[in-house]
Amino acid sequence: MISACAPGKIILLGEHAVVYGRPALAVPVRQVQACARVEAAPSGRAGGVLLISPDLGLASWLSDLPSSHPLAAITLATLAALTPGPFAPVRLTVTSTIPVASGLGSGAAVSVAIARALNQHFGGELGHSRISQLAFEVEHIHHGTPSGIDNTVVAFDRPVFFRRGEAPEPMAIGGPFHFLIGDTGVAAPTAEAVRRVRQRWQADSAVLEAAFDRIAALVLDARQALLQGNVDRLGADLRHNHALLQELDVSSTGLDRLVQAADAAGALGAKMSGGGMGGNMIALVSTERRQSVSDALRQAGAVGVLQTEVEP
Ligand code: MEV
Repeated sequence: MISACAPGKIILLGEHAVVYGRPALAVPVRQVQACARVEAAPSGRAGGVLLISPDLGLASWLSDLPSSHPLAAITLATLAALTPGPFAPVRLTVTSTIPVASGLGSGAAVSVAIARALNQHFGGELGHSRISQLAFEVEHIHHGTPSGIDNTVVAFDRPVFFRRGEAPEPMAIGGPFHFLIGDTGVAAPTAEAVRRVRQRWQADSAVLEAAFDRIAALVLDARQALLQGNVDRLGADLRHNHALLQELDVSSTGLDRLVQAADAAGALGAKMSGGGMGGNMIALVSTERRQSVSDALRQAGAVGVLQTEVEP
């Protein structure tokens, strides 16, 4: 039996603008993960893959699923990359603790976990980069125009400075940064938020391009702050990025409420993270304020609060 896992992720700065070629910063979140297990199937035809996802209520042979089904798509893409030849039927079970449609990269993590597990089971040699590419193919199903940042940070499992079409730059981190991740409890598919920004961009590209440029400048500043371990500077960048995401109209009442609550309780900076319109927000906190900001987030309606560290 083979088992492989992949972490969730948060985007620190640059979501949405990254779809339009601007840089972005993202880090893995190992407190949540998706895992895939491959073992011999008790019955079935040679070359058969029985896909099981208790979370989705799915138990189906791969050949009975449409190739556009995300679990089928990553399985087919990985098998095509591995070309294992005839094999005894296998059972592939997928589980995840990453909330779906919440900005934490659940789709990418499931894809990466499946690709890793199949790669190990068949003795393949797919590296991070190839596994990231395979997951990227499936991201197109989740939302039409992915930048590739989600699959990249999840597959490489380390902080990245990312720009579409370029090799990801692993980030050196200059000091510990403590984050809280507050969940609005509102599921919001990334596809919808990306579509909303696309419509606004089509209607008024000059205004949107200018906003993307301002976000890009914040990302570059935040990269310096991360390198220097400068929490105040990173906090200010997060705050400004949230204001620009509000201008793009991808925040929500729930996200704004949690961001305000974190600010009022003494966070160094807070913003929505990921596609937005629901899902999660992040707050950069000092260790002294971590508990009080976490309490404030819950009082303001967060259905869950995770803690995560970005460390050298
Ligand atoms: C989703 O985590 C981040 C977005 O920028 C979409 C993407 O980059 O593909 C909203």
